Amino acid sequence: MKRVRPADMTEMYALRADTIDYFFPERDDEVESWAKIASEYGDDVLHLMCGTGEILVGLAKKGFNVTGIDLTESMIYQAEENLEDEGIENFDLIVEDARSFKVGKKFDFIFISTGDFHHFLEQEDINLVLGRIFAHLRPGGAVAIELFQPNDQDFKRPEKRYRPFRETPPGLKVWKVNRSSYHADSQILEIVERLHVEEEGEIVEGEYDIQLQLHTEEQIEHMLKDAGFEDVKHLHKDDLVGEHDSWIVLAKR
Ligand SMILES: C[S@@+](CC[C@H](N)C(=O)[O-])C[C@H]1O[C@@H](n2cnc3c(N)ncnc32)[C@H](O)[C@@H]1O
Repeated sequence: MKRVRPADMTEMYALRADTIDYFFPERDDEVESWAKIASEYGDDVLHLMCGTGEILVGLAKKGFNVTGIDLTESMIYQAEENLEDEGIENFDLIVEDARSFKVGKKFDFIFISTGDFHHFLEQEDINLVLGRIFAHLRPGGAVAIELFQPNDQDFKRPEKRYRPFRETPPGLKVWKVNRSSYHADSQILEIVERLHVEEEGEIVEGEYDIQLQLHTEEQIEHMLKDAGFEDVKHLHKDDLVGEHDSWIVLAKR
């Protein structure tokens, strides 16, 4: 058995790129929610921190012009494969940092899904990301960020074992165990994750720490307003399609 300890965020995601999608349930409802929100603003959509591009695939199939940005090369390669496998020819995928990306166009709608915004721990980084988003939206365009609830009971569980939500191909076994602790004073959620991947008898175990900076509605609203956004709205379960434990903050440029 190989034990792997990734040194940084991109190494950690590179290790997870082949199996991360098994830990998301089928994503039709998620795509439906994003399509519903994006369609208010237009067709040109950017998914920041897009991972393997599953949401981009769904949006492209609905007729949006999709662009994905992610810092991890193997995620972008996986996204390219996913889009091409679905016969989608018209897309842009870029390996870039959300804090410094430059794309030569403006979008109608930019979004960060699945709590990925929580990866930014420092206020300086948060300001950079929001500044880049603002600069890449057309006036009247919108940003949407999906966030976790600081009071989510799941974060209070000391240990949780995840089996894949989807059927894995023959010869592949994958599961992960999360140990999490939430620090209410700093609103930091610390997760130690152990990922087990067994393929054709070869076992790789990765262990890594994930730190997530959670935010209250008031905090995120202030940050968006400071970055120049207006008309901030919070969308909850009833406004979204499917089962959502997270919420989405939406704001206009
Ligand atoms: C949980 S995964 C993404 C899942 C994806 N949003 C989805 O819905 O399928 C988080 C992603 O954030 C990317 N990431 C982390 N830090 C980043 C940064 N500074 N800039 C751009 N992407 C980043 C990682 O490479 C990883 O692919």
